[in-house]
Amino acid sequence: MHTYLHGHAAPVVAAHAARTVDNSAAYLAAHLRPGMRVLDVGCGPGSITLDLARRVAPGEVVGIDASASVIASARAAAEAAGDSRTRFETADATRLSFDADAFDVVHAHQVLQHVPDPVGVLREMARVTRPGGLVAARDADYEAMTWAPAHPGLDRWLELYRAAARGAGGEPDAGRHLLGWAHAAGLTGVTATASVWCFADDTARQWWGGQWQRRAVESGFHDQVVAQGLADAGDIAHVVDGWREWTASRDGWFVIVHGEILASV
Ligand SMILES: C[S@@+](CC[C@H](N)C(=O)[O-])C[C@H]1O[C@@H](n2cnc3c(N)ncnc32)[C@H](O)[C@@H]1O
Repeated sequence: MHTYLHGHAAPVVAAHAARTVDNSAAYLAAHLRPGMRVLDVGCGPGSITLDLARRVAPGEVVGIDASASVIASARAAAEAAGDSRTRFETADATRLSFDADAFDVVHAHQVLQHVPDPVGVLREMARVTRPGGLVAARDADYEAMTWAPAHPGLDRWLELYRAAARGAGGEPDAGRHLLGWAHAAGLTGVTATASVWCFADDTARQWWGGQWQRRAVESGFHDQVVAQGLADAGDIAHVVDGWREWTASRDGWFVIVHGEILASV
């Protein structure tokens, strides 16, 4: 298995667990119907998966992730939510164990940007989707991220992130490539869209900026930039300063651009 850049330290998993269909898969929401079978590839702590399950109940929903520890978090979240139907399994997206045509919808949120062969994963997603079903993917585009006020520590953060992501075998600017990857995987009838996350009030600034202050010192991002020889303690401190100042500024505004694809198989 390749290295997953962010890792699964507590601040990373907490950030991912805040995701829902509304904030992360709105482009797919209108296509969901009760009774559908859904696979969530690279499901992380499972908050999107469980939301998908609520929308397609009583349909069967399965979440898979390469990390056994995050699958344990997803199972705990299902138990806390009183969902005993949704299954979570440790598995590699490049070699799914499901039969061909097993699902109506196969979804991946912020996963293809982390894998060395996103086209191969899309092919595998399409293989397990029934004819007439949907493959859905959404990924961030790091180079397209933009913010104010400017701070050199945030410029350095972005530079380090993009270099470390590529060093770990991923593509940080995945959002813009999804349509091309889908075509390369042999998918036709692909609809490509884009949407953003915008963090621009006190609560959102505390959440987004606060978690990156922690992730800069306690996460796979930190460990990778150090292990790949990209940054030393001074660089890390500079990045933390950038996030601290951005979080404290009442003018703080941050936009994350995402590419999205919906492909009918
Ligand atoms: C950014 S997280 C997204 C989690 C979830 N989809 C969400 O948006 O909250 C990416 C997830 O993909 C998983 N992942 C990375 N490579 C994988 C692979 N080859 N097979 C399965 N999961 C993988 C990671 O373990 C991680 O949990």
